[in-house]
Amino acid sequence: MTTPDSHPFIPAETARNLAKKFGTPIYVYDEKTLRNNAAECLAFPSAFGLTVRFAIKACPTAAVLKLFDSLGLHFDASSIHEVRRAMHAGIAPEKISLSTQELPREFADEISAGIKFNACSLDQIERFGKEFPGARLGVRFNPGIGSGANGKTNVGGPDSSFGIWHEHAGAVRELLRRYGLTLERIHTHIGSGSDPAVWQRAAISSLAMVRVFPDVDTLDFGGGYKVARVAGEKTTDLQKCGAPIRDAIVALAQETGRKLKFEIEPGTYLVANAGAILTRVQDVVDTGVGGRNFIKLDTGMTEILRPSLYGAQHPIFIEPSLIRSNTPPRKVVDYVIVGHCCESGDLVSCAPGAPETLATRAFPQVEIGDLCVIGGAGAYCSAMSAKNYNSFPEAAEVMLTTDSAFRLIRRRQTLDQIIQNEIS
Ligand code: LLP
Repeated sequence: MTTPDSHPFIPAETARNLAKKFGTPIYVYDEKTLRNNAAECLAFPSAFGLTVRFAIKACPTAAVLKLFDSLGLHFDASSIHEVRRAMHAGIAPEKISLSTQELPREFADEISAGIKFNACSLDQIERFGKEFPGARLGVRFNPGIGSGANGKTNVGGPDSSFGIWHEHAGAVRELLRRYGLTLERIHTHIGSGSDPAVWQRAAISSLAMVRVFPDVDTLDFGGGYKVARVAGEKTTDLQKCGAPIRDAIVALAQETGRKLKFEIEPGTYLVANAGAILTRVQDVVDTGVGGRNFIKLDTGMTEILRPSLYGAQHPIFIEPSLIRSNTPPRKVVDYVIVGHCCESGDLVSCAPGAPETLATRAFPQVEIGDLCVIGGAGAYCSAMSAKNYNSFPEAAEVMLTTDSAFRLIRRRQTLDQIIQNEIS
């Protein structure tokens, strides 16, 4: 795979300035792209009201949450800890909705503070009902179908534990009756990197569920909208994807008089291509004639786990001109790109969907010290990494602001912070 020379918001000059100021590796987010992505999501086709919830799990850094808050986004939390973190960042509890695989023993304070709750199992409805009889809640259903970029990100259908199986609607009704609860929202999320056609089928099946639950006034269709990070991948057209659902909601209103509001919960779409990792080539080695040429970066699964976990593809830009702008053109070499962990699984240039299979990327001969940018790293990178493996400190995070300033939004972790909870 060959790649263009320059990352869209970290051209050579910016990369050099950032590295000088903050060192490497760092995460870099682009405010302009974040704002544009938010505007696109807020324009999702809707009939009777739309709430866009940012899936906090994709990038929970306070500066990102605050920016989205200021743009009118609401939030989807997938654990009570995410709820607390968002509230700590100043997000109003009424703007947060919790759909969680693990409802901890203590959840009442956050509910009393005003967060919305989607029960994700029959037991969660029961526990919520005991604590808040007569209250209003949402329920996450597994609509019976799922779709994800890979098996690990598909969260619908019979092989998935997420949400209440759609055929258990009767048991849900019985629990609602027992505790005097009102079901006001139906939630589905079928996977990340979903096929838009499957997403639409799941959305239509949520609409059918609405007929079974007369108090439902809101549908939450979750996230999962695909984003192209590298050539050959396809970004979901939100307008095309949402239009048939809007039409179905209008048709339901004409037939029944019920004007349903709806919500979407994009994570990836809002942040994936608004973030990158600035890193440095810290070694170049080879395995002899007929062997491999390896680039070792000063990052890896400690900052970007997605290749090792899913075989995910991220664009990689190496900018040797930063170091030796006057040197003659270099010959192009096929490199395997690896991370800095003592783990052969720390492979950045894996084959698509195959974390263990080495793939190569072609670059003009690379040298130690060259700067490198890994794109598409705004979603599930800083948020989801093999943090502190080999005791590498958590990387710093920087925002490129719309007035072209570099704003440090998270400091690099120190050794003291890594070990602060140890007792020896
Ligand atoms: N809503 C719910 C209930 C979710 O579980 C998720 C993601 C989202 C919304 C946001 O989905 P998105 O729009 O980002 O696809 N770590 C993976 C993706 C798995 C996320 C799980 N849930 C990745 O690196 O792509």
